[in-house]
Amino acid sequence: MPEAASIIRSWKTRLENLLPGYLPDSSRTPRLLLDAMRYSAFAGGKRIRPLFVYASGRALNLNEDALDGIAVAIELIHTYSLIHDDLPSMDDDDIRRGQPSCHLKYDEATAILAGDALQALAFEIIAADPFLSINPKQQASIILDLARACGASGMAGGQVLDLDSLGKQISRAELENIHAFKTGALIEVCTVAPASVAEATDEECAALTRYGKLTGLAFQIFDDLLDVIGTTELTGKPSQADAARAKPAFPAIIGVEKSIQRAYELRDQALAELKNLPGNTDTLEWLAVYSVDRKR
Ligand code: IPE
Ligand code: IPE
Ligand code: MG
Ligand code: MG
Ligand code: MG
Repeated sequence: MPEAASIIRSWKTRLENLLPGYLPDSSRTPRLLLDAMRYSAFAGGKRIRPLFVYASGRALNLNEDALDGIAVAIELIHTYSLIHDDLPSMDDDDIRRGQPSCHLKYDEATAILAGDALQALAFEIIAADPFLSINPKQQASIILDLARACGASGMAGGQVLDLDSLGKQISRAELENIHAFKTGALIEVCTVAPASVAEATDEECAALTRYGKLTGLAFQIFDDLLDVIGTTELTGKPSQADAARAKPAFPAIIGVEKSIQRAYELRDQALAELKNLPGNTDTLEWLAVYSVDRKR
């Protein structure tokens, strides 16, 4: 899919160019907080969540302009989740994206507050977005979906279940449930929010919801795998960190081979959801394949 790959590259560039304009520059105060927010936002992530947003929009024949605010907001929420995820009271990881984690570059209090401020900024961006403001009903429904994806019934809830699982024997189904909450929910909102913008049919919306759920789960299974089969040099994060912390992760529970098989199975199920969408689904296909075949 050479065309899909080049569109993906152009969206990544689009996002990298857009992002600075959304983050208050450090000439403003409080400078320490703004520096920490920018430090983590520009540390070099893959930007896969914004790519899901634009790809979902392409499958619905939407123009990118209508999606920029959503793409940026979700990336900022993801960045906040990583800052908090690395804290000593959570995964206690020192390296993120090949650089010192935010709480080591700054300090713990600043990292916590940078995360808080990034989350608030994300909602501010969606609430102030000129394209979304044209249709306040749609805008409110996107805010509602995003809030649910971040909160107790989404990412934050999943993070609590994840931490609570340390040192415990849990089943594959229980681990899939944790992964669906902590990672799947935010990826799902990436594919569902464009459907709200497009006022997609119930069937289109359901297909994109299922695609997001399946790909999100597959993405986190592969993240677990990279902790075992990846290298810090490529992932930019400490390797073997899950086992060191006695965290139940996919390879520990069902083994490397079966984890890969499960990730592929989910990818194939996700691909099967793309049949009846009105636009071009090539980039959604590309992302589903990439989610379970990557080095970082
Ligand atoms: C890492 O996410 C944490 C998970 C939820 C799996 P990414 O793999 O998308 O991290 P970056 O943004 O590319 O660093
Ligand atoms: C992170 O899962 C999930 C989040 C919601 C941030 P991990 O703890 O496995 O992510 P990494 O491996 O630290 O990036
Ligand atoms: Mg974690
Ligand atoms: Mg972690
Ligand atoms: Mg991980």
